[in-house]
Amino acid sequence: MDTILITGVSGFLGWNLAQRLKSDYRVYGTYFDHPVDLDPVETLAFDFSNLDKIKKFCVAIHPKAIIHTAALSDADYCEIHHKEALTLNTLATRELGRVASHLGIQMIYVSTDLVFGGETGMYSEADSPAPLSYYAKTKRLGELEISNYCNYYVTLRLSLLYGRGNGQNQSFFERMEKQAFRNSQLNLFVDQFRTPLFVEDAVLAVERLIGDKSLKGLFHLGGPDRLSRFQFGQVFCRVFNFPQTLLAPSRLDESKLLAPRPKDCSLRSDKAVKVLKMQLTSVEKGLELLRSNQERIRR
Ligand SMILES: NC(=O)c1ccc[n+]([C@@H]2O[C@H](COP(=O)([O-])OP(=O)(O)OC[C@H]3O[C@@H](n4cnc5c(N)ncnc54)[C@H](OP(=O)(O)O)[C@@H]3O)[C@@H](O)[C@H]2O)c1
Repeated sequence: MDTILITGVSGFLGWNLAQRLKSDYRVYGTYFDHPVDLDPVETLAFDFSNLDKIKKFCVAIHPKAIIHTAALSDADYCEIHHKEALTLNTLATRELGRVASHLGIQMIYVSTDLVFGGETGMYSEADSPAPLSYYAKTKRLGELEISNYCNYYVTLRLSLLYGRGNGQNQSFFERMEKQAFRNSQLNLFVDQFRTPLFVEDAVLAVERLIGDKSLKGLFHLGGPDRLSRFQFGQVFCRVFNFPQTLLAPSRLDESKLLAPRPKDCSLRSDKAVKVLKMQLTSVEKGLELLRSNQERIRR
């Protein structure tokens, strides 16, 4: 069995990746603040801001591939904690890339649609990033470090993810569901557009990328629907039988969020769909799957 290292298995995406890949690989997974039980994954506490310890850590595990999901992913937190964000999102990524390259390890770096400025939307891999927030800048710099240092790498730029995780680092869908069950009003932007991606599709893409030396460089992966969060909320209420009256339109334009957000960072995913033979899940279908899985668990 080949060994892989997933950074951030306690995170939303890392946990979903580990759940899927643990039967086919010997998986090592790191966490920072939130220990996680993912048997038989070997979970290890590791702080990637200890840059000088990264090499020894990777040499000891010597995986076939590193899937780097660990990040400071809260854009508003990053906006006021520059040093922490730069260290983890950029410098640790650079060090991991350097070590992977030195050891001949495949590097799969997870980046974000937020690297775009949001003027036009439906961005392809050929479009130029123009990050607005400090978080997005550190992720863009991480992309540049990976392409500078690694020969055998993939940068996978993902759209806003939805699905279920381990309950600790929650997706926006899980927070929305929790609020809806409490009968709390859902204030959702009508003027910001993304291509929400079902987390299972992100996991499948990574699964297909692992070990394939012909697949290198930059890939975009978003869902097939370009929607505002408000429109996502409308589908969510319909599928989960919550009243549409829970939804309250709000505007990014008027929000007091610390970090600036792009108005439209929807992604065009034609390249990944073709090369990875993906059939992307619509928001309606993704939410139906989440509902039926939940019903099965409750029965
Ligand atoms: N979620 C999305 O919608 C989305 C969209 C596009 C791209 N992405 C990208 O996808 C990746 C995963 O996102 P996510 O939503 O799964 O993030 P997340 O849930 O916030 O998880 C972040 C992970 O990073 C770990 N971490 C934080 N500080 C660390 C440190 N100093 N050293 C080591 N590990 C540390 C966390 O560990 P603890 O929890 O144990 O502290 C956690 O496992 C990120 O790179 C993000 O930029 C996410």
